Amino acid sequence: MNVADYSNYFNLHPDKEGRFGKYGGAYLPPELEKIMEEIRDAYDTISRSARFIAELRSIRKHFQGRPTPVYHAERLSRKLGAAQIYLKREDLNHTGAHKLNHCMGEGLLATYLGKKKLIAETGAGQHGVALATAAAYFGLECDIHMGEVDIAKQAPNVARMKLLGANVIPVTFGLRTLKEAVDSCFGAYLKDPVTQLYCIGSVVGPHPFPMMVRDFQRVVGIEAREQFHDMTGDIPDIVTACVGGGSNAMGLFSGFLADPCEIHGVEPLGRGPKVGDHAATMTYGKEGVLHGFNSYLLQDEKGEPLPVYSIASGLDYPSVGPEHSFLKDIGRVQYHTITDREAVEAFFMLSRVEGIIPALESCHAVAHAIRLSRTAPKHSRSILVNLSGRGDKDMDYVIEHYGFGENFKLD
Ligand SMILES: Cc1ncc(COP(=O)(O)O)c(C=O)c1O
Repeated sequence: MNVADYSNYFNLHPDKEGRFGKYGGAYLPPELEKIMEEIRDAYDTISRSARFIAELRSIRKHFQGRPTPVYHAERLSRKLGAAQIYLKREDLNHTGAHKLNHCMGEGLLATYLGKKKLIAETGAGQHGVALATAAAYFGLECDIHMGEVDIAKQAPNVARMKLLGANVIPVTFGLRTLKEAVDSCFGAYLKDPVTQLYCIGSVVGPHPFPMMVRDFQRVVGIEAREQFHDMTGDIPDIVTACVGGGSNAMGLFSGFLADPCEIHGVEPLGRGPKVGDHAATMTYGKEGVLHGFNSYLLQDEKGEPLPVYSIASGLDYPSVGPEHSFLKDIGRVQYHTITDREAVEAFFMLSRVEGIIPALESCHAVAHAIRLSRTAPKHSRSILVNLSGRGDKDMDYVIEHYGFGENFKLD
């Protein structure tokens, strides 16, 4: 597709069956089919109503603190000496990450549907905190399923969820991380899909979730494009974001699909390319179905999902949003990888040079920008990075394992 063809992209993708090309769809047990249809129909009508749009706009402005700024990281750019790096500051969104953008949308939808409880999985805890916040705001109950490994790693976010009134349900099977948390939450949803709404944490799951979450996240790209243009009179040469399930990336990328810029998604290479050491789905996966949708999947010969790992709990998922798979296949978005160590280096560098402590997930995108500008000719390009979240939740873990950056060359 020519970039100009993307001007009508959102009307055409996904199609009525929730497909992005051959990806997406809804692979559901019969007991969930009807309820998904109801959610889809409700979303189609309610989310387009003037009242819903006005309410969500007001929430974004007065409760979330949107718009979040685009910030020119001048010191970092100067230090690296080549590309100009800009950050879309989703870490300044209320609760400290982009996740609240779709949680407030889903929470508002739940009130229109008369639901009593919001449920979800969480990895890094950011989605859990955001959903617990939405539940408190709308006066709904909230259950968050979280792997025991992540509970130990992301203690501050567990405390926040509890303070916000949510029940945190520990997931004790399998690798006890994000995939198992999704399994557990699906199980709970199957038991009562009527009074609960499953607010999935990314652009994954059966149709309509990848579309719904993307649409609620589009605000990031719409704002960023306008802000960047106001600041520079231009659009960025490269737009980049980390990809776990892919919601912050779809939010930012959606603003630039029709522009003549490169778009780079960044996946976690963890400890390296060995099975079980990473979660680089686009790079090492192949087509397969998990959690009700078809996408790239890290899988064994039998189609079972492979174990995954990343230092960033929000990125260790064996599948990826179906729209990313589509955008990769048609060549509109390229996908790159960053290791744990590169991400941690970015964590220390951004903290020290710019006074911004980033989430380990976001560090993958920052590290990619650092790598690009180290290899770029002087002052050649502008790079807009989605700083999807702040790193307070990761400080204890990083300090315990890497000290204060003594073993990193931060020049
Ligand atoms: C700060 C932050 N960024 C990114 C992600 C990855 O999610 P997604 O790929 O859906 O944006 C997470 C997930 O928890 C997160 O907390």
